[in-house]
Amino acid sequence: MLITENTVIVITGASSGIGESLVRLCAEKKSKIALLARRYDRLQSIVASLENTGAQLLPIECDVTKKESVIDALTQVKSELGEVDVLINNAGRGYTGAVEDTTDEHLHSMFSLNVYSLWYAVREVLPTMKARNSGVIITVSSVAGTMGFPYNSAYVAAKHAAVGFHAGLAAELAGTNVRTHVICPDGVLTEWADVTETMPIGNLFAKGIAYSRTIAREKGIALAPLAKMKSADEIAQCIVETMENDNAPLDIFTHEGSHERSIAASQDRSSFVRMMLPLYEGMRKAYSELCAK
Ligand SMILES: NC(=O)c1ccc[n+]([C@@H]2O[C@H](COP(=O)([O-])OP(=O)(O)OC[C@H]3O[C@@H](n4cnc5c(N)ncnc54)[C@H](OP(=O)(O)O)[C@@H]3O)[C@@H](O)[C@H]2O)c1
Repeated sequence: MLITENTVIVITGASSGIGESLVRLCAEKKSKIALLARRYDRLQSIVASLENTGAQLLPIECDVTKKESVIDALTQVKSELGEVDVLINNAGRGYTGAVEDTTDEHLHSMFSLNVYSLWYAVREVLPTMKARNSGVIITVSSVAGTMGFPYNSAYVAAKHAAVGFHAGLAAELAGTNVRTHVICPDGVLTEWADVTETMPIGNLFAKGIAYSRTIAREKGIALAPLAKMKSADEIAQCIVETMENDNAPLDIFTHEGSHERSIAASQDRSSFVRMMLPLYEGMRKAYSELCAK
């Protein structure tokens, strides 16, 4: 699907990070873009900074964990911009906590935001996409949707569910011109790692990685390679390419080596855990220190 000035694109989580970068890239194509997020002031300043691009930009305050909020937002999009051609489910947040420290509230929060929100939005746009036999639905999941990471199992489980949602959706849409894709980034330099619920996961990883070097040296085993961090712009560019490529695969891995790591993790989880042991032990030490503070 070529993105033109007539393409109606909805982007959730448009107020920062990957979502904001995506808005800026789509605005260069002068498209009709609905920006959804809770921080309306940030959406307004993004829109103001793009007023000379020729794009039609519609900021909408929306909490994607609330079904009525999503329904209202998408009703407004249809009446002000037209039927949705591309839906990008990008809104998401992480969580830091051991399994035994994860409360029902944390679980509910992770699944409302990273999973239930997908149904709320997709149910609103899919019937028209099916009727027109045209449309693209993309969700930003994570490599955490294809393999485990310690001390954020609620996020890992929710992002696996997002990947599962797309596996089911792709099967329902097989043979039609409505496409669906799930983006699985590794680390991206955005606010995300600082705003994870309970404590910033960025601190946990930084400390854990530092400890893992010593642990690997002491045990005489090699450290498994970690993906190099990418910018929000790089991920947004990959999403635009996916929108425009009718032959794009269902699962999109944005970082070098992450597809291979994901295959290794799913083929033999026990060997994968053994390979990652220095990192996991480093993170265990870091987590107990951070909890003790
Ligand atoms: N950064 C990474 O390392 C990384 C790696 C893999 C996957 N991801 C995924 O990439 C996506 C984008 O994250 P990012 O890295 O760009 O982080 P970010 O800068 O923190 O952006 C998250 C976006 O989600 C929105 N959001 C959060 N809760 C929401 C809610 N209840 N309703 C509506 N919008 C909500 C935020 O807007 P408001 O706060 O204004 O509502 C914000 O615009 C997420 O799904 C994340 O899980 C990130």
